[in-house]
Amino acid sequence: MGTKYVNAVISEESNENSLPVLDGTLGPSAVDIQTLYARNGLLAFDPGFRSTAACKSSITFVDGDKGMLLYRGYPIEELAERSEFIEVAYLLMHGDLPTPSQRKTFDDALGYYNILHEQVLSFYRGFRRDAHPMAVMVGVVGALSAFYHDVMNMRDANDRELATIRLIGKMPMLAAASYTYSIGRPQRYPNNKLDYATNFLQMMFGAPNREYVVDPVLSRALDVILILHADHEQNASTSTVRLAASSGANPFACIAAGIASLWGPAHGGANEAVLKMLMEIGTVENIPKVIERAKDKNDSFRLMGFGHRIYKNFDPRSLVIQKQAKKVLAHLGKDDPLLEIAMRLEEIALKDEYFIERKLYPNVDFYSGILLRAMGFPMNMFTAVFALARTAGWVSHWLELQGESHGIDRPRQLYVGKTLRHYPGKK
Ligand code: CMC
Repeated sequence: MGTKYVNAVISEESNENSLPVLDGTLGPSAVDIQTLYARNGLLAFDPGFRSTAACKSSITFVDGDKGMLLYRGYPIEELAERSEFIEVAYLLMHGDLPTPSQRKTFDDALGYYNILHEQVLSFYRGFRRDAHPMAVMVGVVGALSAFYHDVMNMRDANDRELATIRLIGKMPMLAAASYTYSIGRPQRYPNNKLDYATNFLQMMFGAPNREYVVDPVLSRALDVILILHADHEQNASTSTVRLAASSGANPFACIAAGIASLWGPAHGGANEAVLKMLMEIGTVENIPKVIERAKDKNDSFRLMGFGHRIYKNFDPRSLVIQKQAKKVLAHLGKDDPLLEIAMRLEEIALKDEYFIERKLYPNVDFYSGILLRAMGFPMNMFTAVFALARTAGWVSHWLELQGESHGIDRPRQLYVGKTLRHYPGKK
């Protein structure tokens, strides 16, 4: 049987075979295929979701051709320069920047709920000391659902808000503990006199028996990293959270699912993979060999921190991160040879026909590892920092989904397995 084709003609007139086209406020329109199967007995096939809008959302907009990223309409560059992470988290969750009194209420709530239940801390002892922090975070965030399940009514807007506050509030201590446990240092508690990023740094790097003063330049750099990573529309981990949430699952369990999805090297795990790659390259002279490997179709190696499903131009976040990395290194008086390798690699790749043709540019992860390393973060904590930031986006999408009525997300498939057959002996 030959291939069959369907014609899709976009017109102003409707007929019994036509499907409506939906317009958003920005970006491409979408064909509404919800009735396709009922009317035509056909499914839409789009593995990898390259042409699928899985939901309507008003949170974040990405224009990959222009290299544009907007949170609730605000350009990421403006937020990175003028805002702070907690304000951005509020913006993502509620749609607008907070007034001073809304901000105070939000800060007070985060300050009240930012300590981990003492029994949660004992969970860490069940993990091997050398466990990857992301593995620990998947487990511990999932375990929070055992603490806050029956006490929450997800039909109640206040309880929903409380779940999101608990998640954003507790995540810094939870992430820091996954590191301090691995090195055997007792965990510090949050200090409500400090801002979110500073608190995370003191819990990561301070010991409980002595004062630890956080360098404000590092604290601001971390806050910028958190802003840049806070949301990115329907990426793999956010879609995972939405899919899990569509069944009505516990919000902490949904976020644990998001963390698991983020960990992969094609997604949030790329920041760690970039640094490993730069270390392996070792010197500028080795760059051409690596470029050749990345272009070789018989080699599964990819240039980590390069390329993006949506951006076919510079990832605007990578430009901000590169600037921050240079600023922090200069402030600390450090001269990281990996920065030179990264910049040279970028320069060579951007002039190479292979990368030009495929529109492969540095993404957010290309320079973030260099910056986090300069700040003292061990490599295996890079993706955990990403998870901490992305929690703001995940909970915003989780909240948005609660207001929708389309029921459980249940994709279909194009079955290509065996047709009906019978067990041996069955007539
Ligand atoms: N190095 C070499 N070739 C690449 C790369 C790369 N990093 N990325 C894509 N390509 C090639 C790919 O081989 C393919 O070539 P061809 O057309 O000849 O088969 C073409 O470019 C298109 O690639 P694709 O796999 O269809 O692109 P995708 O949209 O499915 O993948 C990606 C996007 C980010 C997974 C991919 O670019 C990649 O693996 N990059 C490296 C990992 C990385 O940096 N991930 C972080 C993404 S940004 C942060 C986040 O979202 O979490």
